[in-house]
Formats: sequence, structure tokens, C-alpha cells
Amino acid sequence: MSHNTGRDHIAIPGPSVMPSRVLQAMHRPAPNIYTGALVELTESVLQDLNRIANNSGDAVIYIGNGHAVWEAALINVLAPGDDMLALASGRFGRGWAAMAEPLGIKAEVLDAQVGQPIDPDQLESRLRADTEHRIRVVSTVQSDTSTSIRNDIAAIRRAIDAAGHHALLMVDAICSFGCEPMDMQAMGVDILITGCQKGLMTPPGLGILFANEKAQQAKAQHLPRSAYWDWRPRISAEVFPARFCGTPPTHHLYGLREALDMLLEEGMNAVWSRHERFAGAVWAALDAWGADGELTMHVANPADRSHAVTAIHTGDGDGKRLQDWCKEHAGVTLGIGMDTRITEGAVVGSSVDAMFRIGHMGHLNIPMLMGTLGSIDAGLKALGIEHGQSALTAASEALGAFRKHA
Ligand SMILES: Cc1ncc(COP(=O)(O)O)c(C=O)c1O
Repeated sequence: MSHNTGRDHIAIPGPSVMPSRVLQAMHRPAPNIYTGALVELTESVLQDLNRIANNSGDAVIYIGNGHAVWEAALINVLAPGDDMLALASGRFGRGWAAMAEPLGIKAEVLDAQVGQPIDPDQLESRLRADTEHRIRVVSTVQSDTSTSIRNDIAAIRRAIDAAGHHALLMVDAICSFGCEPMDMQAMGVDILITGCQKGLMTPPGLGILFANEKAQQAKAQHLPRSAYWDWRPRISAEVFPARFCGTPPTHHLYGLREALDMLLEEGMNAVWSRHERFAGAVWAALDAWGADGELTMHVANPADRSHAVTAIHTGDGDGKRLQDWCKEHAGVTLGIGMDTRITEGAVVGSSVDAMFRIGHMGHLNIPMLMGTLGSIDAGLKALGIEHGQSALTAASEALGAFRKHA
């Protein structure tokens, strides 16, 4: 028997739940793309994005997903034959390096230990060994969505500085932007990229790139290799469509404007703190479930865990069975397991069927979060998967403690 007659809920780590306000803002006739409201709205979107990132430079928007803006970042500052060091704490850190190879960029991957963030000391040693400063870019992912590992970006910057190295620091905040604090100036980030479909609560389709002055100077030394990805004409465009190298993503811009309004009305500190508390509730439930049986979080240290997504290991096949049960009987879509235990390219641990992920990012409130946890709890019982008790109590206590202090 299925209990699934209500509204479906998506608890994957992006695309996240689209707020009605965002969808309604997009529901409009085609606008003028040369002058007027859309032009002004886009300026305000770029200003607000820069404000949230605390970027001293410029932001550009590409029509594309995360892979598109990965490529945009690479192609603007690296030429064929250049070296980069890709810090990997999961699939996405490695994925960025893989995008570099066909562009002729030599991407060396520095893997973190399984379940752990990048070790700044290891990074510093590697950069010290680069006496000729051949490495032009260090890339990293703030929160790797596959493993739910959160890297300390400020510590990575300190390691680069301690090595006396001049490489640009390029950060993927596709999972974390709008969910976890970002401050490009305080963290020493030169290039930051994100997509609109996770913390920014807008349907997939916009890739956003922020470049500070140092990154723009590095760019100036390069001949443009791609008229489409080149960020300079987009920054200096006098004709509005030139900002997008063609037709602007009209309705996405209206949607993103509304999403930014929602975030700024709540206040970024409140948004980040909400994500932290919701993550804490998920972890409290997992600690309780994990007291018996095989459920364990991939990341042991809470300080190293993403506030937007949590990756969980289960017994063989149980992750997949739980996902299927939740979808069929509760209308809740959980995140699939991704190969997390990647070391030097080899999967050395659990298969993807022995995992699932919970996305807890973006447009989320307590009923949505507790509904997801309650559905998982019911699924564990229905499937006879061994687990500890009182997970929902633990989660609501974590949330209640937050309300008491708020
Ligand atoms: C951290 C991170 N980087 C990059 C990507 C790739 O983005 P896309 O799937 O939009 O191309 C994702 C996708 O989930 C991601 O989570």
C-alpha cells in the first residue's frame, strides 16, 4: 500500500525546491531585451550577487549549467600547456580537473583523505615544491556535493600564501552558494563560480562567475581563445545582449531577481544560520539512526560537513532500496549515492547502491525537513533496515534548541 497521495517533495542536492514566488516571477510575456526593466533588473542582480559573494571585482552570467561555468573559469585564465592543481575531496573536485584536460591544460589532482577535507599542510608542501611557480591556478570545491565534505577556503588561501605562491585560487561554490558563508575578499578567492539551481532556488540554466582584480589581470595576459566564454566583453558590454554574447536568459533573470529578493529579505546571515541548523537536525537524526545497524555519515567531523547536503553510507543495496521506497511510498526523492571513496581515481569503498544523500538546501522549512526525515524513518522500518530509535526526536530537539536561542 502506498501513502503517496499528497504533494511530492524533492530532497536531492540540486536542483532544489523552486519557490512559488520564483516561478510566478518567471511567468510573464517575453520582455524587451534592448532597454528598460530587464536591463535595470540585470544590473541589480549582478550587484546583489557581488554583494553576497563580497567580490571586489565583477560578476558575469553565462547561459549554462555548472559544467559550463567550470569551462568558462578554466578557459579565461589558463592556456593549453598551463599547469593547474585541482584539490579534490569528491567527484566534483575531480570533475573540474577532467574538464581541463581536453583544453590542453595540465591538471594535477591532489586528493584529500577519504571522508576528510583538503589538508592545507599538504597543499602548502606541494606548492613549496613548485619552485618555478608553474602552477597557475589552484582549484577547489567549497562543498563537494558527492561526499558532502566542506573545505575551509580561508585555510586553503593561507596555505597558498604561506608557500609564497602566486597561483590564483579558483573556487566552485555550486553546492554552497546561498547555503554557507562566502566572502571572496576575506577568504582570498580570486575566481568563484556557482549555478542558480541550488542555494539560489532558480530553475537550472545560469552559471555565474565572479572574478576579482587579480584574476582579471591574469586574464589580460592571455589571448582570448573563445569569443563565447571570454568574460571581458560581458563585463564591459555597452549593448545589453552583449552581456550574454547573444540573447539574454530573460525569464531566468526574473526568477533569479525574485530569489535574491527572498534571500536578502531573510538576510544572508539568517539564511546561512538556517542552513547550519537544518544540517544539525539531519545529523542529529543520523546519529540516532546510526546507534544500531550500518547507517553512517560519510564525514565524521561535523566541522567538515556541508550545510547543504549530507552523504550517508548504508548496508549493501539499502541506500537504493530506501530511495525507491521513499519515492514510491512517500513522494520524497532522495539524492542518489555517488562514488565518494575516490582515492587516486579508484573507488575503494562502498558502491553507490549502499549510499544515499539528503539535500537540505534552499527553499526549506521545518515541515519539509521533518517530512523528509520522517519518510526515511518510515522507510527504514518498512524495509526492515536495522537502525537506532528516536531519530525524529533528536532532530526536533536540535531544531527546538535553535528556536529557543533565536
Ligand atoms: C559542487 C558541484 N560542482 C559542479 C557541478 C556540476 O554542475 P551541473 O550538473 O549543473 O553541470 C555540481 C552538480 O551538482 C556540483 O554539485
